[in-house]
Amino acid sequence: MKLVFSNVLKKFGLKSMIRKPRPNDVEKTFSQGEILVSKTDLKGVITYANAQFVDISGYSQEDLLDHPHSITRHPKMPKIIFKVLWEGIKSGKEVNAFVVNLAKGGEYYWVFANVTPSFDANNNITGYHSTRRRPNRRGLNAIQSIYDKLRQHEIIGGIKESESVLKSFLEKEGVTYDKFIFDLQYS
Ligand SMILES: Cc1cc2nc3c(=O)[nH]c(=O)nc-3n(C[C@H](O)[C@H](O)[C@H](O)COP(=O)(O)O)c2cc1C
Repeated sequence: MKLVFSNVLKKFGLKSMIRKPRPNDVEKTFSQGEILVSKTDLKGVITYANAQFVDISGYSQEDLLDHPHSITRHPKMPKIIFKVLWEGIKSGKEVNAFVVNLAKGGEYYWVFANVTPSFDANNNITGYHSTRRRPNRRGLNAIQSIYDKLRQHEIIGGIKESESVLKSFLEKEGVTYDKFIFDLQYS
């Protein structure tokens, strides 16, 4: 029955829905030199994934391609970080973020992602490109407690509230989001 349904979807050029796994407490890691790459179209639909990204995600290449990137979203990620990400890349900037992703088996894996727009000859954005490296553990410890706080605020007051908490935090630290994140990874 499942096979018949997925064949019908294929016939109409549609991808089948992928059921999200239940998150567990098992961490997946990758080595220092590895780079996990994916590319998306303008809407965040995956158009490319390298072997390393496919491997850690637990999905097949075929599962990932043509699916929204939120297929790898972990519920521990605050919504506000994706708002910052999309606002940045849509306006042509590159954005760095610590991201925890959900693998097919329910495991989690942290990455330090650099997301950039790709441009055509007329300087129009044609899609987006994410290059992920192993996150700095010290930076990760700091970001985890910040994300926990942001998510708690999102549960109570939605994204408006986590946005204002993030803004106040950065103002208090006297840094921009970009500098704060970059320093967590590289200093
Ligand atoms: C190039 C690129 C790579 C992305 N990579 C991830 C990723 O690894 N994990 C993730 O959760 N979201 C990633 N996103 C963001 C997703 O598109 C999406 O905004 C996010 O998962 C939140 O989805 P939701 O608002 O539907 O819950 C990426 C977006 C782009 C443009």
